[in-house]
Amino acid sequence: MKLFSELRVNLGERSYPIFVGSSLLRELSDLVAERGFRGWKKAVVVTDLNVGALYLETLLSELEKMGIQAFPFQIPPGEKSKSLQMAYELLKFLANSSLSRRDLVVALGGGVVGDLAGFASCVFKRGTDFLVLPTSLVAQVDSSIGGKTGVNLPEGKNLVGAFYQPVAVVSDVDVLETLPQREYLSSLAEVAKYSFLKPNSWKTSLAELSRELLERQKEALLSVVATSAGIKAHIVSEDEWDIKGKRAILNYGHTLGHALEAATEYGTYLHGEAVSVGMLYAACISEELMLSEGLSARHQRLLSSLSLPLKPLVAPPFDRLFTHMLQDKKAAGEISMVLLESEGKPLIKSGIERELLEECYASFCGGEST
Ligand code: GLY
Repeated sequence: MKLFSELRVNLGERSYPIFVGSSLLRELSDLVAERGFRGWKKAVVVTDLNVGALYLETLLSELEKMGIQAFPFQIPPGEKSKSLQMAYELLKFLANSSLSRRDLVVALGGGVVGDLAGFASCVFKRGTDFLVLPTSLVAQVDSSIGGKTGVNLPEGKNLVGAFYQPVAVVSDVDVLETLPQREYLSSLAEVAKYSFLKPNSWKTSLAELSRELLERQKEALLSVVATSAGIKAHIVSEDEWDIKGKRAILNYGHTLGHALEAATEYGTYLHGEAVSVGMLYAACISEELMLSEGLSARHQRLLSSLSLPLKPLVAPPFDRLFTHMLQDKKAAGEISMVLLESEGKPLIKSGIERELLEECYASFCGGEST
């Protein structure tokens, strides 16, 4: 086992560690024994069929070594599983497995698995211990950290949920080897986001690591996951409930990003691809409003070095995007966006004029929208 970094989300009695390393999944029992977690007797392991086929057996054998009786609950992969119906099935499964409040729910998977399992863990008997083993790059650098759990409604994403912090996050970069290429590449957008928001937190700049990252070299992955997770942990520690405006900076690139995903019915863009385009759009608006010169060009250089898209893959008409931007649950009747005065200086700007948004979009799409 190689433990590269041990970080901490500091939230008083809800504080917890994030372990970043390699071979952590294969040697989970050693890690748990070393750290003296509570001696759980039973665990329900939530995973999806893709991840389960690759890693469930390994995890079950580690749980067995820990003397934990484990019950796997496998869901179809994809966003459709993040539903109240699936939460209901999972809660029934927890009840039928006779899980007690002193037992454990384990999430082995990406964001969908983590959000669903965390939500069920929060509401089952008013809370069982919850351990996250994130298997996607986005989950390792973002969604597994900070306790946002929940499911979607037909009316919108993440409309039912709760803040519920895990007992630990165990991020094993070995599992990133098996991610499909497009998914892996698109996830680098969330990593790029951290380098725009907090450039000083990087010992080696992301630009310097781009080639190794494209090749999924382990040392680069360890360093990038640890740095990104550390930035997220710090932001969450300052604003656990997302009410002080500090955590909201994580929405950089997400105003246009979410609108592009919604306007194309979640069938065209992977989340990271939409965020990549959205960050460039935010950089364009930042330049217009604050003369942060050269920001777009610097964004383009980093994003293209990570093989991320610089233009909409499909460009819906602006009217449609604008409606989605206004419907965003954080919009409150006007468009607020996270902008950058420069790298490392984010700010939230409210009441951005429609005209400016439209102009930037048009220039951005080369004057065309389809
Ligand atoms: N992914 C944004 C947040 O955790 O606040």
